[in-house]
Amino acid sequence: MSATEDFIVADIALADYGRKELDIAETEMPGLMAARAEFGESQPLKGARISGSLHMTIQTGVLIETLKALGADVRWASCNIFSTQDHAAAAIAATGTPVFAVKGESLEEYWSYTDRIFQWTDGGHSNMILDDGGDATMYILIGARAEAGEDVLSKPGSEEEEVLFAQIKKRMTETPGFFTKQRDALLGVTEETTTGVNRLYQLARAGELPFPAINVNDSVTKSKFDNKYGCKESLVDGIRRATDVMMAGKVAVVCGYGDVGKGSAASLSGAGARVKVTEADPICALQAAMDGFEVVLLEDVVSTADIFVTTTGNKDIIRIEHMREMKDMAIVGNIGHFDNEIEVASLRNYTWTNIKPQVDMIGFPDGKRIILLSEGRLLNLGNATGHPSFVMSASFTNQVLAQMEIFQHHEKYEKGVHVLPKHLDEKVARLHLDKLGAKLTVLSEEQASYIGVTPEGPFKPEHYRY
Ligand code: NAI
Repeated sequence: MSATEDFIVADIALADYGRKELDIAETEMPGLMAARAEFGESQPLKGARISGSLHMTIQTGVLIETLKALGADVRWASCNIFSTQDHAAAAIAATGTPVFAVKGESLEEYWSYTDRIFQWTDGGHSNMILDDGGDATMYILIGARAEAGEDVLSKPGSEEEEVLFAQIKKRMTETPGFFTKQRDALLGVTEETTTGVNRLYQLARAGELPFPAINVNDSVTKSKFDNKYGCKESLVDGIRRATDVMMAGKVAVVCGYGDVGKGSAASLSGAGARVKVTEADPICALQAAMDGFEVVLLEDVVSTADIFVTTTGNKDIIRIEHMREMKDMAIVGNIGHFDNEIEVASLRNYTWTNIKPQVDMIGFPDGKRIILLSEGRLLNLGNATGHPSFVMSASFTNQVLAQMEIFQHHEKYEKGVHVLPKHLDEKVARLHLDKLGAKLTVLSEEQASYIGVTPEGPFKPEHYRY
């Protein structure tokens, strides 16, 4: 790469390969292609300057090209150091879209790339963020608080925060006032995942969310599809590509039985593993039991299970005392958004043997070994290629509609977190039916009024849970 090029990718020569896969993905992403057909001419995102922080995969490439087809200018980074597909990043960079993403980038690079998605070559600012996990949003909000004189950078709580804070200080020195100006230029944020949405609600409760945000995750056509059916395909894919282990007959423990846990347990069980589940929520625990999974305490199964997967979005789930008790060559991985579900830091004291990228064997003092996937980062994107295109089409069609909604109608939205209206959720689903050959029954006027809806929908009241 030359110093004047406005992108950082592993190898721009991978662009042709990436383009071929983008072409294939388009055939599996009917929602995004329909958005291009419906809105391409009217250019609803003209004038939008979107900073995107979301796994730089082939599917995300189709999202980026859809946002551009609707008129947006886009700068992009990945939201995880291991999730980039280098050929996807190359193909997008080759079209002139600034992409900053390399599979296996360091934490320092990660935060400097997050910074780059806000550094427009004309010195202007982004007016929209498209976030996955909240890192891009947090970068700007923490920076703005630091510029306002708040003591937010003096006590990093983790190695990750140490690197983030160093990047914020660097930008504050290089461009004084940058974060405040960038924050004030933002019309809003659209957030992809459960963990990022949790962060947004916490900010809103504390009165610290200065713009409207759309919670894309809680569109039904996102969390009940991507989190569930997506993980159903991509969890075992990640474990197999990492280890080639025989799944059938193995005992697997899934920690958490929310949407991701449900998909993950189904994935393992579909591969023939005998699945056990841990849960803290009695409703989800009861669901797990009635779906046929034994609900257990991690402590009770830790020495007998073969495969462990965390899906909670919570921290400190598999701790060092658990890993000490595990069998020789137990496989440990996480599919939740952040790597703090597994206490990886304590494993640093032991002997690490790298088997291949994102697969490590860790030797304990007593000679026992475990296999750790993606250093505890989300393994379906670290060890494999994430969810298939079709399910990501549903998620990303919600993203496109959410970006359009905030960009065009931001004055309608108060500061705080919002979800898309149900008719748009139903529209996203509708756009994906033809591809599967699904035929929708049309309600007669009489039937519709009997159940209190209209033949065009929405078909359910807001409180319906699917
Ligand atoms: P969720 O809130 O539906 O499920 C999490 C479940 O974990 C809850 O039922 C909760 O009660 C349970 N839990 C919390 N603490 C626990 C503990 N100590 N032990 C056992 N269970 C516990 O969230 P969702 O949507 O399933 O997402 C989970 C995580 O996965 C989030 O971080 C989310 O951002 C991420 N995610 C990852 C994807 C991927 O492709 N890797 C896709 C979608 C979401």
